[in-house]
Amino acid sequence: MLELIWKPELHLFPCCCAFKDAFELGSDDLVLSNEYIYEPYFGKMDLKCHVIYQEKYGTGEPTDVMVDAILADAAKTGCKRIIAIGGGTVIDIAKVLAVSDGEGVDELYDKAPNLEKKRKLVIIPTTCGTGSEVTNISIMARTRLGTKLGLVSPAMYADQAVLIPELLEKLPFGVFATSSIDALVHAVESSLSPKATPYTKLFGYKAIEMIIRGYQKIVAEGKESRISLLEDFLIASNYAGLAFGTAGCAAVHATSYPLGGKYHVAHGESNYAMFTGVLKNYMEIKQDGEIAVMNGYLANLLGCGTEEVYDKLEELLNQILPKKPLHEYGMTKEDIDEFAHSVITSQGRLMANNFVPLDEERVRKIYTELY
Ligand SMILES: [Fe+2]
Repeated sequence: MLELIWKPELHLFPCCCAFKDAFELGSDDLVLSNEYIYEPYFGKMDLKCHVIYQEKYGTGEPTDVMVDAILADAAKTGCKRIIAIGGGTVIDIAKVLAVSDGEGVDELYDKAPNLEKKRKLVIIPTTCGTGSEVTNISIMARTRLGTKLGLVSPAMYADQAVLIPELLEKLPFGVFATSSIDALVHAVESSLSPKATPYTKLFGYKAIEMIIRGYQKIVAEGKESRISLLEDFLIASNYAGLAFGTAGCAAVHATSYPLGGKYHVAHGESNYAMFTGVLKNYMEIKQDGEIAVMNGYLANLLGCGTEEVYDKLEELLNQILPKKPLHEYGMTKEDIDEFAHSVITSQGRLMANNFVPLDEERVRKIYTELY
């Protein structure tokens, strides 16, 4: 059994200047970032590297159209190394830049997973959620198919993942909230996955502890107290990334993708909308095994009994990010059948990692309960 995939070297620097010196940024480098992230930290360093700002190509999470346009401009730079400095969108696009030699997105999806790395890849996350710096998957909206799909290849791992807590200091609370809840979902889903191992669970359960303890401190001491916890959250997100990079995510992510794809709900927020609803349905089908371990672990952190663990978890999470019923995101009753069908037909990669198998009727029931 595959125990743990750990591909990129991991680096941690207290500040951006220490990173710049160690990595010797120069004219062979293409930085993919956002202006509001790059300018305050790197703008005055007089670097010779090429810079592409992702937002110039469209807002929100990546689409095939956006990525194709960035691929075309990146090709003109002749760069040898891609440096992604950003959140999930920037990182997901950078992984595609590292494997494309002029091919567009559709062509890459057709060839995957047999892609070749064409440029070195360094990933620096500026949110504390995706864990994407240590995984080889890039998620984007396939506008012609009307859903989000992952592009996966062994060639899409970063060569180096770099954690710089300083970069998270200006992260608005809302983005901190959605991204860290995403990390929590990664940790829980991967630990319940049939592909979980003692190694992935070591990282997964530790990430859960760090995130829950962090939220409890923020609830007790106020939103600003998160600044002293940024390194912890960045590491927790990275741990969760290592866990799901091997053990995978599952139904929470699978059911949240149609919602995110159709109604442009932030990834962490659509995950949270589905999160405890999926766990409760697992429990209706099977109450023992890893889910009993998970519930005991959560109950201990939350100081409650296992029978009320999801309610107490939601009580805590709602103070970080209020949970909304699905119709508030624009979802309609008609969407329920359509989404459930799309999950079963298009998200098999994720649904294979469910704690217990969920069929189309069960997925419809989950959407209906959360509607
Ligand atoms: Fe996620």
